Amino acid sequence: MSITEIVYLPEDPAHDPAIEEINAEAFGPGRYTRAAYRIREGGPHDMELSFVAATSAGEVVGSVRMTHVSAGAGSALLLGPLAVRPAHKNVGIGRKLVKLAIEAAKAAGQSAVLLVGDAPYYGQLGFARLANGQIIMPGPVDPNRMLGLEIADGALGQLKGPLIHRNLAGRAQA
Ligand SMILES: CC(C)(COP(=O)(O)OP(=O)(O)OC[C@H]1O[C@@H](n2cnc3c(N)ncnc32)[C@H](O)[C@@H]1OP(=O)(O)O)[C@@H](O)C(=O)NCCC(=O)NCCS
Repeated sequence: MSITEIVYLPEDPAHDPAIEEINAEAFGPGRYTRAAYRIREGGPHDMELSFVAATSAGEVVGSVRMTHVSAGAGSALLLGPLAVRPAHKNVGIGRKLVKLAIEAAKAAGQSAVLLVGDAPYYGQLGFARLANGQIIMPGPVDPNRMLGLEIADGALGQLKGPLIHRNLAGRAQA
């Protein structure tokens, strides 16, 4: 399948069953215990900043989601899950989805993007490793996989301590 036959769309509630299937296929049942998943349980993702890749026949073959998070005085978007169906891998869909999500975050005035993922892949897209212990995740994460991309100057430095869904930030400070 050539990349030119793929269209990119903002996520819509109708995409949900297909996205669930893609994530189940990519991450298996273990996805529910991942630290990033536990943060995402705190509230919804932002559909306006989340995207799908679909074939011209309308089959959803890739997805990236963005969730608003906070840590200390800082706020960011947590990127993920990112997954592409096996039959459509290695034609640039994953990279394009990440780029779209970053561009949407920038356009929406957001200040930083975080994720847990492989540095060799995300490094090419502008992400770099955070300082050890800067962010505390609600479960074990290899520090080499805790990555960030700064949109506003100094935004990453403001993120310190437990990372939580932004919906819970008021409650955490209360
Ligand atoms: C990771 C994933 C989203 C990449 O999607 P994709 O559309 O195949 O990726 P792209 O076509 O944009 O990029 C492919 C390139 O990235 C490389 N790549 C893919 N996964 C990688 C990884 N984990 N680490 C380093 N490089 C990786 C490929 O080897 C390929 O390299 P090349 O361009 O030199 O040939 C996809 O493989 C997937 O769904 N994996 C399972 C779920 C997953 O691991 N998600 C990421 C969670 S952090």
